[in-house]
Amino acid sequence: MSKKISIAIDGPAAAGKSTVAKIVAKQLGYIYIDTGAMYRALTLKAIQNDVDVNNEKELSLLLSKMTIKLVPENGVQKVYIDQTDVSEAIRTPEVTRNVSFVAKHSLVREKMVDLQREYGVDGGVVMDGRDIGTHVLVNAEVKIFMIASVDERAQRRHIENLKNGFESNLDVLKEEIATRDKIDSEREVSPLKKADDAVSLDSTSKSINDVVEEILSIVKEKTNNI
Ligand code: CDP
Ligand code: CDP
Repeated sequence: MSKKISIAIDGPAAAGKSTVAKIVAKQLGYIYIDTGAMYRALTLKAIQNDVDVNNEKELSLLLSKMTIKLVPENGVQKVYIDQTDVSEAIRTPEVTRNVSFVAKHSLVREKMVDLQREYGVDGGVVMDGRDIGTHVLVNAEVKIFMIASVDERAQRRHIENLKNGFESNLDVLKEEIATRDKIDSEREVSPLKKADDAVSLDSTSKSINDVVEEILSIVKEKTNNI
């Protein structure tokens, strides 16, 4: 059997990272870690506790008093805050609108990165986020930087929102995605950025299956050469 490697998938919002990362992980028998879900969980808790998303110290304190766990259950990754399943609650538009403010703070990121590295310590992991290739798993054997046009990303999220029963307006979504990308790319700590050794993959107009196949062939080439 070939060596279990680490695969980092970064890129802007709704580029298709988590959808393809989950399938790639399943096909390889690897674990899948959605790091965005962890920032979303803290954001949810902050909203529930009326903690200002710009208050770094209070957010850090809140984080130190809660546990965030990613648990695979029947092939689906569930997200827990303490004993509560928040897998759906972290996907609301309110959490989405606030999460990039929470994720700007270095005290928050330091703690999250520690947790993420624990999940990745044995390899055999597909991790997606914004700073996985540049910071969390700098030694990952495969790094993908996934992009897609903002129009297509907004359209994808729009369809997804409608499917999940959320109200959705395409123009508002486009603006929210662009704003989030800007905050994520311009923040001082671990901004969204392609790692020098990452492969760029533009998923615009590509099917999920095509993107999965592309990544699997990159992985195959890499593992054959280890
Ligand atoms: O799925 P979507 O692209 O909407 O976002 P996500 O992956 O759930 O991430 C939500 C937010 O968390 C991002 O917009 C970033 O602000 C933050 N994030 C981050 O800063 N670093 C990561 N490794 C993952 C997410
Ligand atoms: O994780 P990230 O925010 O990058 O994106 P995602 O949540 O995986 O994908 C956003 C939406 O785009 C999902 O509803 C996917 O089904 C869809 N998608 C797509 O239509 N075509 C792709 N090649 C990848 C994702």
